[in-house]
Amino acid sequence: MLQRSNIVSPEEELQNFYEELRAQHVTPAWISGGVSVEPKSKAVPYVWHWRDLRPQAMRAAELVGTEQAERRVLRLHNPELEGSSASNTLVANIQIVMPGEIARAHRHSASALRFIIEGSGGYTVVNGARIPMFPGDLVLTPNWTWHDHANGTDAPMIWLDGLDTPLVRMLEAGFYEQYGEEAQPVGEGADPSLAKYGVGGLRPAWEPAPAARYSPLWHYPLSQARAALERLAAEGAGSPFDGVILEYTNPLTGGPAMPTIACYIQMLRPGEHTQARRRVCCTNYHVIEGSGYSLVGGRQLDWEDKDVFTVPTWTFYEHVNAGDRPALLFSFTDAPVMKALDLYREEAKG
Ligand SMILES: [Fe+2]
Repeated sequence: MLQRSNIVSPEEELQNFYEELRAQHVTPAWISGGVSVEPKSKAVPYVWHWRDLRPQAMRAAELVGTEQAERRVLRLHNPELEGSSASNTLVANIQIVMPGEIARAHRHSASALRFIIEGSGGYTVVNGARIPMFPGDLVLTPNWTWHDHANGTDAPMIWLDGLDTPLVRMLEAGFYEQYGEEAQPVGEGADPSLAKYGVGGLRPAWEPAPAARYSPLWHYPLSQARAALERLAAEGAGSPFDGVILEYTNPLTGGPAMPTIACYIQMLRPGEHTQARRRVCCTNYHVIEGSGYSLVGGRQLDWEDKDVFTVPTWTFYEHVNAGDRPALLFSFTDAPVMKALDLYREEAKG
């Protein structure tokens, strides 16, 4: 009969064996920690308040120029993560560009999104396309696209930066390149990607569909998203877990905006309290407007306009709109990575 073997060895002999293995850079798997039955994130639920962030962004703008800093960025770092990132795979940072400033052109393997918090009429140039930035707009600078920022207005431009740099670093897949000039030449059109792809279901028929896996639409104005949310909210539509939630999609495929990052906007009606759920993906949230709280892994994260908070992977979360106006939340997750690798799961509580 076949059975499990039972071998009991003297402790000293075992220790000698392990010592030899260590010297050969080999580790016996049976003494190096147990199997985890489910994901347990090192990251913790956390909220960064705008009332703290904004003054520090303004201070950074006084103390450091865009000559000194390739990007004037404050990284929000999760209290329990070793690196300086808000979540395991995705950073959530605050970037500020002051009146008259540019942030010079470069490109990198990491995919990036900008969600505009403050300031109107500054712009980002993506592969020569000039994209105007207004509060609540989502602007994509997908992987390996040239991008630079400029602020020709008389007020600071401040936005949330979301990037997959921790993921790309972990995969040891990161490239970076400086553009030959400070800024890219700007092509024709006021907002070309929006003109071509900004109406869902329609695309230019005189040119082939772009081959890149990321969305060819790089500008998703808040005005369009808000109108769609309000139409659906009026019909009583939505998810028990997220309220009225819409994904910013690649209009050619219906898939996520970028291969590694999915972006969402949601509306929680006054008094709405969503049901608890957990998912295999980490999520960073930005409060566009509204006030309330989220219960995340047993912690209460109180939030109001322009705050940022993070929900680690496989952690139950529920949202409560405690205010008397609709709450709008922007969020981005690494769910496309999990789904592409068949690692995604979700589960409602109870
Ligand atoms: Fe960049």
